[in-house]
Amino acid sequence: MSLLAKLQSKHQGEAETTERTTVIAEVPEEKGHQPVATTEAAPALDPIKPKKKERKQVKAEKVADEHKELKDLIFKYILKERQNEDVEEIISDLDDIIEEIFNENEDLNVVNDLDQLKAEITNDLTGYGPINPLLLDEEVTEVMVNGPQQVYAERGGRLELTDITFRDNDHVMAVLEKIVAPLGRRVDESSPMVDARLKDGSRVNAIIPPLALGGPTITIRKFSKDPFTIHDLIRFGTLTEEMAAFTKACVEAKLNIFVSGGTGSGKTTTLNVLSSFISNKDRIVTIEDAAELQLGQEHVVSLETRPPNIEGRGAITIRDLVRNSLRMRPDRIVIGEVRSGEALDMLQAMNTGHDGSLATGHSNSPRDMVARLETMVLMAGMELPVKAIREQIAGALDVIIQQSRLKDGSRRITNITEVQGLEGDIIVLQDIFTFKQFGVDDNGKIIGKLVPTGVRPKFYERMEHEGIHLPASIFMEKGE
Ligand SMILES: Nc1ncnc2c1ncn2[C@@H]1O[C@H](COP(=O)(O)OP(=O)(O)O)[C@@H](O)[C@H]1O
Ligand SMILES: [Mg+2]
Repeated sequence: MSLLAKLQSKHQGEAETTERTTVIAEVPEEKGHQPVATTEAAPALDPIKPKKKERKQVKAEKVADEHKELKDLIFKYILKERQNEDVEEIISDLDDIIEEIFNENEDLNVVNDLDQLKAEITNDLTGYGPINPLLLDEEVTEVMVNGPQQVYAERGGRLELTDITFRDNDHVMAVLEKIVAPLGRRVDESSPMVDARLKDGSRVNAIIPPLALGGPTITIRKFSKDPFTIHDLIRFGTLTEEMAAFTKACVEAKLNIFVSGGTGSGKTTTLNVLSSFISNKDRIVTIEDAAELQLGQEHVVSLETRPPNIEGRGAITIRDLVRNSLRMRPDRIVIGEVRSGEALDMLQAMNTGHDGSLATGHSNSPRDMVARLETMVLMAGMELPVKAIREQIAGALDVIIQQSRLKDGSRRITNITEVQGLEGDIIVLQDIFTFKQFGVDDNGKIIGKLVPTGVRPKFYERMEHEGIHLPASIFMEKGE
């Protein structure tokens, strides 16, 4: 009989009858002091008997406790007895180790799912610990660890609390070490924040105590192996076919396009899709804080910023890269995210012959984006009059694409807006497409429609001139 079978048959005999509580002794972390797990029988005077309804819940908790207890014991055993051995060897010996632990702890209950337990231990030893399954799960797009007891995952645009936990802060730190060490980075009190990119392209941010009060906090934005295409976005309802045709024409006509939206609203994804419309003949320079864009064209130069070193020197910013890119004879400049003074260099580039550039920025509406760009230009440290800044913006930008993550988790392009020019002191914006929300259905899904406003953009003629033909009908609202 295999160990597994043995243990399981043992389990069946006694699983439902035994009632115990487990106390893992709190031991101060002193050198040479091994933490000890103690088990004791439930006090006989336990007066609260669960009501029938609650029993199922209690049983599940009990099983979870037992599972955790055994796992703790296994880890302590490995730390104590096998610390210097190869991880592979330990894993291949897991069955024996578990058997030994059962022999040493006779009153130990057998956990329900030994395979699951072994998988968890293997994850801890080789992968990224308890969050490994989330990282492997293709449906999960983001993983958030808020200290040891709380792990959230984003699936299908929705955040959900998982039942994954770590043992304690040290456990989270161990996983974090594993993530950043191969990247040549470290996280400790002297550098308690780190931004890094994993080998597979996923982005990791970590911030630890004392800055993060709830324990080491890790945020992982997973890299999608095959990025969304325009067809995906249409399928998701992010934009309509008409809007897709329109944005494609805008890119082909070498308009300067700015994608605006909140964090996680899908700006980078949309930027990637827009970039895919760029001709294969163009020389494209991409500039990002962390390389996320995945362009299929042949002639692409990808640039990435660099954080300062420990002494706070040697940083290369987006602004440095934008300036440098102008000397690289680009046909197109694609900027991942404009946050600060680089806005000035970008606008100047757009105004001096680098048409067809694409960028994203953080804001809540096209109007807000324009206002923020003004502020960002001021951050460049040149004392420009507001009017001059607005001229730059109005002259440079042709289209603002506003992207939002709606309450139901869906991402939508809520406005495609033309920047028409400057009238007096005001930058004139005109929506070409907007999202009309009608209400919310019983499942919390937002009911709405992306519609043309009926206005044809001023650059329509320019497009025609370039030989890009769009049927005028796409700007007209369809009859119900
Ligand atoms: N149109 C979309 N529909 C559904 N999910 C999307 C869409 N665009 C992006 N996502 C998902 O949303 C997350 C954030 O997207 P990203 O483009 O990185 O946002 P941002 O650049 O605005 O922070 C990613 O996990 C991505 O896969
Ligand atoms: Mg982004």
